[in-house]
Amino acid sequence: MESSSQEISVQDEAVDKSQFKTCKQIAFYRRQKHLCPGKSPYQTLLKTVELSNSNLKFQIINEESKVPLAVEIYEIEGNIFRLKINEVNPLKPRYEVPDVLIKEPASLRLKISEKDADKLVLTGPEQEQQIHIMAKPFQIQLISKDEILLSMNSSGLLYLEHLQSPPQNRKSTSQEKESGLADSSKENEEDLGLWEEKISSFLDIKANGPSSVGLDVSLHGFEHVYGIPQHAETLLLKNTSDDDVYRLYNVDVFGYTIHSKMGIYGSVPLLLAHKPDQTIGVFWLNSSETLVEISTKAAVKVLPSKTPDISKQRVVPQTDVRWMSESGIIDVFILKGPCPFDIFKQYAQLTGTQALPPLFSLGYHQCRWNYEDEEDVEKVDAGFDTFDIPYDVIWLDIEHTDGKRYFTWDKKRFSNPEKMQKQILMKKKRKLVVIVDPHIKIDPLYTIYSQAKERGFFVKDRNGEDFEGICWPGLSSYLDFTNPEVRQWYADQFDFKTYKGSSEIVFVWNDMNEPSVFRGIELTMSKDAVHYGKWEHRDVHNLYGFYQQMATAEGLVKRSGGLERPFVLTRSFFAGSQKYGAVWTGDNKADWSYLKISIPMLLTISIAGISFCGADVGGFIGNPEPELLVRWYQAGALQPFFRGHANMGTERREPWLFGDKNTKIIREAIKERYSLLPYLYTLFYRAHSVAEPVMRPLWVEFPKELETFGIEDEYMLGSALLVHPVTAPKISTVNIFLPGPQEIWYDFRKFRHLEGHGILKIPVTLSNIPVIQRGGTIIPLKISVGKSTEWMVDVPYELRAALDYKGCATGELYLDDGHSFHYLHEKQFLLRKFSFYDNVLSSRCAGEEGLFQTKCIVQKILILGIKKEPSVVTTTKFDGKDDKAVAFAYDTKNSVLTLQKLSLNIGNNWELRIK
Ligand code: GLC
Repeated sequence: MESSSQEISVQDEAVDKSQFKTCKQIAFYRRQKHLCPGKSPYQTLLKTVELSNSNLKFQIINEESKVPLAVEIYEIEGNIFRLKINEVNPLKPRYEVPDVLIKEPASLRLKISEKDADKLVLTGPEQEQQIHIMAKPFQIQLISKDEILLSMNSSGLLYLEHLQSPPQNRKSTSQEKESGLADSSKENEEDLGLWEEKISSFLDIKANGPSSVGLDVSLHGFEHVYGIPQHAETLLLKNTSDDDVYRLYNVDVFGYTIHSKMGIYGSVPLLLAHKPDQTIGVFWLNSSETLVEISTKAAVKVLPSKTPDISKQRVVPQTDVRWMSESGIIDVFILKGPCPFDIFKQYAQLTGTQALPPLFSLGYHQCRWNYEDEEDVEKVDAGFDTFDIPYDVIWLDIEHTDGKRYFTWDKKRFSNPEKMQKQILMKKKRKLVVIVDPHIKIDPLYTIYSQAKERGFFVKDRNGEDFEGICWPGLSSYLDFTNPEVRQWYADQFDFKTYKGSSEIVFVWNDMNEPSVFRGIELTMSKDAVHYGKWEHRDVHNLYGFYQQMATAEGLVKRSGGLERPFVLTRSFFAGSQKYGAVWTGDNKADWSYLKISIPMLLTISIAGISFCGADVGGFIGNPEPELLVRWYQAGALQPFFRGHANMGTERREPWLFGDKNTKIIREAIKERYSLLPYLYTLFYRAHSVAEPVMRPLWVEFPKELETFGIEDEYMLGSALLVHPVTAPKISTVNIFLPGPQEIWYDFRKFRHLEGHGILKIPVTLSNIPVIQRGGTIIPLKISVGKSTEWMVDVPYELRAALDYKGCATGELYLDDGHSFHYLHEKQFLLRKFSFYDNVLSSRCAGEEGLFQTKCIVQKILILGIKKEPSVVTTTKFDGKDDKAVAFAYDTKNSVLTLQKLSLNIGNNWELRIK
């Protein structure tokens, strides 16, 4: 939010909601709400059906206005359905989101298996799946095993406003007739915001007039729906009511309100629905402002047979989802699962997987607004060593620049940034992240500005002048990242030669990229601003941050000659942002309720494809009481992106400032994260290679267990660890839900087996939060930690195997150099699989053979749940040689077998036999 230096003293300022629109103030919402659920006016023109190798095309016609629409249907490889609806001959092209899909999805040939006057039945590769296209009214049903899974336009809410000529020569068009707007008086027209929309002193002039689209999607049998980040809301999506719908519109909301459906910094229009035997995803590919209504109800299920069999009707839940976007076309993908992990793969097949982060970025990040100068950086850095706390990255916020001119340094505070990097950070094997925002100070003497100005690289206002708005530097213009040439140029600004004072340890933070425009409408850019290709900002709004991060990541790769992996944190994001780095949840508050909501917020972002996410530890706004800070460190240490951050003007809160006891607890939390890095890095490799979210809701791991569907106060980190953060003060017990009657759970720190499942009351102290290892898993850890990740390369591993009820366990380790692309191009990686079966723990290559060499060893192995004390334990290399007995200790009380002082190479095949 706008906060000039004088205003910054108002730390606990709540969000001023009046700056943001309510639904009723959104004209396209009001217009679409004229359409009531019921019989759709659209009918399928079956005679227009054309089947090709890649799709099925046909027209539908609005029976009232007689205006047709073009429909395309695709069956995409991997169990994905796609529906596109556009005008037949639009006055000019409508925006179709580019650059989000990683490639044009490969489609399969559909077959028409039935056609009569009312209906067309299509089959794809799977016989048990059908697509039914109804003619009167137009409706699409996806059928699986004779049951309707999903239907579109079954509530008759398909809506598309045809582009029209501007008002002066505008006649009463069919579209107006359709929406009852013909002969509308000037007053009525203004109210519907067709050609302009006024909100307080702002006027949005719509060059293309009304252009919104909408569609209803009914999910049959589903009552649990998730996704569509970003909202400060529960994991389970709630039913909406008029004027309280989920909004996807990227805006800068300082201290956002909790339990609100208003849009905040990022948007991913992906919704997931789940029931015990099926998960389904709806991906609405539209980057304009989007509203989503949700209504779960009990419905009568009718089988899709020609002669309805009344006796087979039954009452089942149904969730109706209504999507409404301000412009563009209807382009919707149905991810048909059937399992949660299939949905993640299908979505990644379309939009890409999580970029594999450099290992350092999984360490702890220390940030505040601001680390004042080089001396401050040196002191804080040294503090971590004095207090024996590992950390990898120190961050510099906007004050490090020369008057908020990004890519420059404040000459007084940071007079020798090279020296600071070399002599302080590089020596200690640590990194620096600097902030680079998208607004550019209007200053002809600032090279970035003058170059961009000269080349016409700024977003334009509706009159063709550079758009101007106020942000941190004062009056600024905004780079048009939707233009590939601008992105190229921007990427080049990160070149070491161009970005003076930067080195290979400098990485980047993109903030304010919704974009944030102080004193702008809803604190963002006017929708009538104009981008590359003459698209209105309206069309591309939710993509702005996505493109900035894309260009930045590209720049970091480029500056290294294509060798090094980038790290870029962004505040604003869209579908596909996972390909470019990490996101965080913006300006939260130092309040228990914000710690609590961070869990469902991060889970929602994670299942929408962006695994690398985190919340400001401690809470950005205000001063956390020590207990809250400690609890936040404990939670953050077990979340994907782990950064402490604080607003300007807040009290200093480096982890050692709260007394010895708290320092010790925070140290332990951070150290535990560092020891878990091999596991975490492996999870990121899986997110990168097979699209599994790093942090997952319980229902994803236990999809058949109804009790897990609404759980949002605990989560799984990978499939092995269950984490239950403590999010309230002075707590002495927590109620943990342990899923699965088939599962065995172990206390991760005390190794003992936890009896029972379902809700368990567990005592807690301030020293840590419950972490529980699932039986059947093996976790790789480091046996000790260093000053930063780079100090730990050679530290030996521990394997912690927790046995399931059959006495088995498996686990994986991914390993590479931690920073380059050699894993990709030169197979410089190791992927190891550990399994415990029949009292033998073996280490093998998992899948593809990697070529990475390491001297690192497994020094310690812990096996939890071994029922009987062994008489002898031996290790054997797979070549059969070197069979030797090893010392062990057995804890009878907890059934734990401990082996120390082993020397098994982590990259080699070996076995450990227990007799
Ligand atoms: C925004 C960011 C915050 C940052 C501040 C100054 O409020 O969300 O993290 O510290 O701007 O750059």
